[in-house]
Amino acid sequence: MSFAVTPQGFELRGEPFRVLSGAMHYFRSLPEQWPARLRMLRAMGLNTVETYVAWNYHEPVAGVVERLDHLAKFLDDAAEAGLCAIVRPGPYICAEWENGGLPAWLTGSGVPLRCHDQRFLAPVDRFFDALLPLVVERQVSRGGNVIMVQVENEYGSYGSDQEYLRYLADGLLARGVDVPLFTSDGPEDHMLTGGSVPGILATVNFGSDPKAAFETLKRHRPDDPPMCMEFWNGWFDHWGDEHITRSAADAAATLDEMLALGGSVNFYMAHGGTNFGTWAGANRGGTYHDGDYQPTVTSYDYDAPIDERGAPTEKFWAFREVLAKYTSDIPDPEPLPPVLVPRTVTLGEPTSWRGLVRDGVGSPMPVSYEDLGVVHGLVLYRVEVPGPRQPYPLVVDGIADRAHVFVDGQLRATLERGGTNTIDDVAGPATVEVLVESLGRVNYGPHVGETKGIRALRHERQYLHGVTAYPLNWEDVPWGSGVEGVGPVFTRGDLKIDEPLDGYLAVPGGLRGYVWVNGFCLGRYNAVGPQRTLYLPAPILRSGSNEVVVLELDGVAQSAVSIDGEAGLG
Ligand code: GLA
Repeated sequence: MSFAVTPQGFELRGEPFRVLSGAMHYFRSLPEQWPARLRMLRAMGLNTVETYVAWNYHEPVAGVVERLDHLAKFLDDAAEAGLCAIVRPGPYICAEWENGGLPAWLTGSGVPLRCHDQRFLAPVDRFFDALLPLVVERQVSRGGNVIMVQVENEYGSYGSDQEYLRYLADGLLARGVDVPLFTSDGPEDHMLTGGSVPGILATVNFGSDPKAAFETLKRHRPDDPPMCMEFWNGWFDHWGDEHITRSAADAAATLDEMLALGGSVNFYMAHGGTNFGTWAGANRGGTYHDGDYQPTVTSYDYDAPIDERGAPTEKFWAFREVLAKYTSDIPDPEPLPPVLVPRTVTLGEPTSWRGLVRDGVGSPMPVSYEDLGVVHGLVLYRVEVPGPRQPYPLVVDGIADRAHVFVDGQLRATLERGGTNTIDDVAGPATVEVLVESLGRVNYGPHVGETKGIRALRHERQYLHGVTAYPLNWEDVPWGSGVEGVGPVFTRGDLKIDEPLDGYLAVPGGLRGYVWVNGFCLGRYNAVGPQRTLYLPAPILRSGSNEVVVLELDGVAQSAVSIDGEAGLG
């Protein structure tokens, strides 16, 4: 084997090799950007890049596997940049990614997740059959750059099904993986005993105190070399919380200590990137992760050493200095092109969402997004309140995640998951419409796999039956249909540029919504912050005209967006 694990450390082609790796997810940036960003990892002093594979990015519809060429190109670009690669194929990845990487069509069908149950394993096997060949042919044993492959992700934080882990590991071996397999878990006894597999390398994930973490690992695995598979040198943000950062000096000191202990490392993240579109995940709060729902912001900058647009930060230089003690021949970072000059882009032509209402699906009770085959976006639920009858409270049960409630066409309230779910004084007969917006699916803990939509509509205790659900295709905006008052409204404008460059886009008066540029969804914005600007990547722009579309959900029609000179992350 050309990459080997020994109790003292790793060996590449017979030579001692300390893994100095950094995480960068190919699904969080654009293919055109990968080569420069990978070279930036190399310029920090790294010899390896690590990526997850997000199953739901590749299999949006059951049985339709796409974009595997992205992973192949990413691994090849890494080789080109002089980097080895660690692949973490899932099936579950966490990663603050929608549903932890699991496809909504699978989790929405109610199958037991992440355990030895054929209803879960059969789709995993089908996906792995499509995915693994490109990884296998790029292993070091075959002249490629892939040195390690992960079995599941922090499984000890979730379950204790050893048969499941063994099944996944055997599946990887049977498909030709011959580089070392590994698991990664929190450095705690219950996590290591739940998540590791006899005979397979165990690694630990942590942000500080490497000595304690490696000692715990050693107690469980005296013969496994110390490796931190996720060195959390930064962190992610939730909407409505403070922006989280970690000082370069503090993170560099932890790195120094870890390397002095003989550890190998994978920076989580080396370069974070962006949760474009609706790919941001969510968490549930509380010690056991079953508390409040907390959606994650669009940016995945992560306060990482290489920022959201691929530029080196103070942390980059601090890490580089420490890494230079352990490795030589670190290339200099290449300069980045400038960003777009700040400006304002005027928006016009306000258009209501109403024109998106087309074919509906009728059912006694509301159907979920998953039953409709909708992953994310807007779904309108319509029901009739019989009458005549007195006014009673109207109740919307199981809101996931936000609901604009209209009674006879008038917007009465905007309800949110976790808040009040009741509107007073609705008399009958009346037509009730609930326009639902979904936020990210939980990516960690026991609530992975929650469905979207609403569970029921009631007139006080009485269920309102006969609900029609209309999935709205928001990429097909009915321009020119006019607009009524506040509430979901589209506007558009033209961003004229000489040359495609990165930018930072803000919707200054906007409360909540989405932005598309040339049809590419930059993600969600939300006035509660902490994120204020959305990263606008150069590869989606063209010289001349660029169409900007804003969907404002809660406020008035937006009249402008701004292009700012720097990122506003909080
Ligand atoms: C865990 C997971 C990662 C990520 C981090 C937090 O370690 O394994 O995927 O979610 O937490 O950023």
